[in-house]
Amino acid sequence: MQKLDVRLAHKTYPIFIGNGLFQKSFSMLKQFINKRKAIIITDSNLKASCGCNLMEILGNNGIDAKMCVIPAGESSKSLDELTKLYSFFANFGITRSDYIIALGGGVTGDLAGFAASTWLRGTGFIQIPTSLLAMVDSSIGGKVAVNMPFGKNLVGSFYHPEAVLIDPLLLKTLPDRHFADGMAEVIKYGCIDDNELFVRLERLSNRKDIMKHIEDIIYICCDIKRRIVEMDERESNTRMVLNFGHTFGHAVESYYNYKKYTHGEAISIGMVFIAELSHKLGYCKEEVVERLKKLLEKTGLPVRLPDMKPKDVITTVLTDKKARTDNINLVLIKDIGNVVIEKFPKDRIGGYIHEVLDN
Ligand code: GLY
Repeated sequence: MQKLDVRLAHKTYPIFIGNGLFQKSFSMLKQFINKRKAIIITDSNLKASCGCNLMEILGNNGIDAKMCVIPAGESSKSLDELTKLYSFFANFGITRSDYIIALGGGVTGDLAGFAASTWLRGTGFIQIPTSLLAMVDSSIGGKVAVNMPFGKNLVGSFYHPEAVLIDPLLLKTLPDRHFADGMAEVIKYGCIDDNELFVRLERLSNRKDIMKHIEDIIYICCDIKRRIVEMDERESNTRMVLNFGHTFGHAVESYYNYKKYTHGEAISIGMVFIAELSHKLGYCKEEVVERLKKLLEKTGLPVRLPDMKPKDVITTVLTDKKARTDNINLVLIKDIGNVVIEKFPKDRIGGYIHEVLDN
């Protein structure tokens, strides 16, 4: 087992990473949940495989635990589902010293985390991510939120868990498409910070090979994110590098109403786009773009927009609810493992998009 500590000005919390840790959940978490009530929030796909198992582990150790099952899928990150959770907490008499355990992917973690951050102005919270994307990204760093009909993640807060418990063996049953989804974020970490990680990924030929090193790979990604979040918890500057590929990735996701592409697939397209732009603006060599494309393709991720026109990309990027300023910060790549944040006036963005897509 490996352990990282996220050290923030206001709190420090551990990330435990280890194959088989899920079965040892109680011993890992007892310092937090012993003699307390716990609510496990999980989704309909995970109830049978993981939820019931965790209920049993906690029950066998004398924890008064209940499970709340949300429908699997992004539509659960809603105010409606949040209200249902609050009713559940009220009925079970959850107090500030009790624990809410998010057992699932990004949707479950974001929703449960936002519920924990707001219930009684803040309740104990633990993350047990089950998807690769949640293990390397969304369970760490404290971003929690729900979606609104007019925009994704618009209502949320920064609320860190007391602990994150990552068992890479839980990935064994993850469908290939969702494994690749998480790999997009893993590749992102290579691009923004770790040439060695990127080279290592280039040498691994398939999912089976990656799984042989997965504990280590997850550790490296979590460590990069930990370091960045410690430097800039609330994303005023450095943390923006985690958004590499996300400006155009989000445009792709939202243009297709979050249905055609998974987050990782859209980010894959967005990373190639921004790498191409970085090359056109003279920030990096063409070889960087080619290596990135090759690695993403090998991982089973898309690298091109099939049928989105420049005008649609421009409109979607510029009308993003979070981009209502005169400038847009773009994370450009200089080399594998080396990125830079640059501010561009919004009125230049359209020209750049044409420059990449028209060729
Ligand atoms: N997923 C990007 C961040 O946590 O900042």
